[in-house]
Amino acid sequence: MSPQRQVVVVTGASAGVGRAVAHAFARRGAAVGLIARGLDGLEAARREVDDLGGAGLVLPADVADPDQVEAAAERAEAELGPIDVWVNDAMATVFAEFLDVEPDEYRRATEVTYLGTVNGTRAALRRMVPRDRGTVVQVGSALAYRAIPLQSAYCGSKFAVRGFTDSVRTELLHRRSRVWITMVQLPAVNTPQFSWCRSRLPDHPQPVPPIYEPEVPAEVVVHAATHRRREYRCGGSTVVVIAGNALAPGLGDRYLARTGYSGQQVPGWPVPEDRPDNLYAPVPGLAATHGAFDSRSKRFSLQAWLTRHRWALAPAAAIGVAAAAMLRRSVS
Ligand SMILES: NC(=O)c1ccc[n+]([C@@H]2O[C@H](COP(=O)([O-])OP(=O)(O)OC[C@H]3O[C@@H](n4cnc5c(N)ncnc54)[C@H](OP(=O)(O)O)[C@@H]3O)[C@@H](O)[C@H]2O)c1
Repeated sequence: MSPQRQVVVVTGASAGVGRAVAHAFARRGAAVGLIARGLDGLEAARREVDDLGGAGLVLPADVADPDQVEAAAERAEAELGPIDVWVNDAMATVFAEFLDVEPDEYRRATEVTYLGTVNGTRAALRRMVPRDRGTVVQVGSALAYRAIPLQSAYCGSKFAVRGFTDSVRTELLHRRSRVWITMVQLPAVNTPQFSWCRSRLPDHPQPVPPIYEPEVPAEVVVHAATHRRREYRCGGSTVVVIAGNALAPGLGDRYLARTGYSGQQVPGWPVPEDRPDNLYAPVPGLAATHGAFDSRSKRFSLQAWLTRHRWALAPAAAIGVAAAAMLRRSVS
């Protein structure tokens, strides 16, 4: 392995956002350790990483199991070199009202989505902190601030990831570590999640529009891996949701009570009761980067571009300051 390659580990790399993140790092020549459970998706992701100019390494592991994550980290370092960046992306969810979710399903969704992130962060920091070098990026969600109906286990996990990340960041700052931890809050993204998640809804689950293609957040994740910024918000809808919730959370509750059920399902697309799902084991044959909503998904977000190119805001800020100064002069 070339010593110059940046070494990146991505959990949830066999599909969706994680697979797009692996592609984005591969385009920059990185060596990418690919963690997930499904071998078909992992092997496909590895081939794509290699084709894009990176070097992929398949690391099958269940992120809910700390020993498997630790073993994957050990193998990544043995075969690729010291890990520079660790991206925690893997997730599992159950689409159903709270009382329709069995205790074990709740536990499992939390163990994958929340504790999977904790396990990944532990494996990364055990290696990065002694070296005083490296970055952990948590793939978050607007739902880490604004919970919605029918996904209480997932929303609770995303809130927990945010709290956990903020706590660990303060510890790193306390010890004046150069290791960094950050979180990227995502909008709705077109991934296979909605075709293989466990669901008790009558119709096919969907991300609440506007929907973005996974390449949009993937570029923000890459940026987050190389800049020391506390948190990123990806997509105008994410900014609006988080700001709106800070201003009027009660209004948000009522709005979501009214729209959050229909907004998360495709009308007239029934889901068979025996649909295979990925809560406890991967679903063979469905792993892909994009989900079923290509025709309704945006390939570009101006906000996501601006968050990576803040310098582009300088002329607008200068015009704003000049206009404010002129206004003040004209009224005084
Ligand atoms: N899609 C959205 O609308 C959206 C919105 C906001 C935030 N996000 C965030 O984006 C991230 C990715 O979501 P996504 O929509 O891309 O999900 P996805 O399409 O369902 O992909 C999930 C990935 O996680 C892996 N995974 C699931 N359970 C695992 C386990 N126990 N151990 C290891 N890997 C596991 C899956 O592969 P295997 O099944 O092969 O293991 C797959 O690679 C998540 O953190 C999610 O919160 C997504």
